[in-house]
Amino acid sequence: MTVKIDNCIDIVKEDDKVICPSARVPYYPLVVKRGRGAIIEDVDGNNYIDLLSSAAALNTGHTHPKVVDAIIKQAKEFIHYTPAYMYHESLVKLAKELIDITPGHFNKKVAFGLSGSDANDGVIKLARAYTGRSKIITYIQSYHGSTYGAISMSALSLNMRRKIGPLVPDIHHIPYPDCYRCLFDKNEEICDLECLKLLENDFKHYIPIEEVAAIVIEPIAGDAGLVIPPKKYIDKLYSLCKEYQILFVSEEVQQGFGRTGKWFGINHFDIEPDIVVMAKSIASGMPMSAIVAKEEIMQSMGAPAHLFTMGGNPIACRAALATIEVIKEENLINHSKELGEYVKERFNEMKDKYSLIGDVRGLGLSIGVDLVKDRDTKEKAQNAAAKICYRCWEKGVLLTFFSNSVLRIQPPLVINKEQIDKALNIIEESINEYINGHIPDEVLEIAKGW
Ligand SMILES: Cc1ncc(COP(=O)(O)O)c(C=O)c1O
Repeated sequence: MTVKIDNCIDIVKEDDKVICPSARVPYYPLVVKRGRGAIIEDVDGNNYIDLLSSAAALNTGHTHPKVVDAIIKQAKEFIHYTPAYMYHESLVKLAKELIDITPGHFNKKVAFGLSGSDANDGVIKLARAYTGRSKIITYIQSYHGSTYGAISMSALSLNMRRKIGPLVPDIHHIPYPDCYRCLFDKNEEICDLECLKLLENDFKHYIPIEEVAAIVIEPIAGDAGLVIPPKKYIDKLYSLCKEYQILFVSEEVQQGFGRTGKWFGINHFDIEPDIVVMAKSIASGMPMSAIVAKEEIMQSMGAPAHLFTMGGNPIACRAALATIEVIKEENLINHSKELGEYVKERFNEMKDKYSLIGDVRGLGLSIGVDLVKDRDTKEKAQNAAAKICYRCWEKGVLLTFFSNSVLRIQPPLVINKEQIDKALNIIEESINEYINGHIPDEVLEIAKGW
């Protein structure tokens, strides 16, 4: 490490004494001072190219001037008045915009909250209230948040379920269609959607299908390591939902707002979900979530079944309106698509050189680079991922990994070609340093990741 990080270290030591460990997944001691676009600066004055976007929550980049302006203007007028009791104009404007960009040719309504977690809790409530059924189906290795409902829907790690039970009942988890690590050792040509047959088998033996209220799926499984389902899987799942009046819920908290090169991940599949869940990038870093659902579904619950005093905060609403404007005006969706293709190409070139890279996958600027110990066994190379991310940070690139071994490439969509090229060169240098044994094991004590 050649750069100075004394101030960072001091703050991290103090943080350790007072912050609950359940709220942090450690990678390296970076203490943020300011951010601009795709660059962040730490409290020691070091600059980093951000490939994480605050966990995909800053698609418009750091402190976009239009977003900052909207926040300041609103803060000078009024900071909050709860929409639970009174009304404000930006709430209505934003709801109309969200309805407009969300897929589905039917009347919709919006429910606002503060985080992806609470929105997913809302989905459980809405689905049960509307259908009169109790069962919810989600996926193994999914992460939907950490309120009780959302964590009960999640199945990513034992730590997030251990010791906190009983969880919300009647939520069932099924395997995500992961074609790289297919549970049935099939490939695309011979795949007969065996993983979906598992669900059909569940329906036969222990989950009465007429009691299923909703299936909640991420159109790209984010924290599972950016896994893309085959289109035929989504088509068949959707048909199944329609046949048995099960609500199809697209969970877009991580993949929404242009991240995948379309407004929402589900836009890559030709279907109209009954409910779309959004948060993270919706308001460029201001706390906000939204559930956009068919009007009749929204009409099924009365107040205060899903209501938050601080929900639909006007500053967050104005930030969200500015966010949508920026995404449209700066053509960020197309930029995400085109730059994403380029980034995948660069990683595929690296894959030709380094057997450490087992798979490169993604849509738009939501890209996963899966590191393996062996291309045949596909055993995850967790230490490699941790060491490479740590070395990248030392060299000025903020890179993380999830699903043990998958490098997470989700930069702000405003990142330019020069910045991404610089970041990619540093990643390749770090891969080489890892392969040559130049990254010490001590790093593993710090960069723990998911
Ligand atoms: C797909 C997905 N859903 C839900 C959440 C939870 O959102 P929040 O942390 O805003 O509650 C996350 C957060 O990482 C996520 O990636």
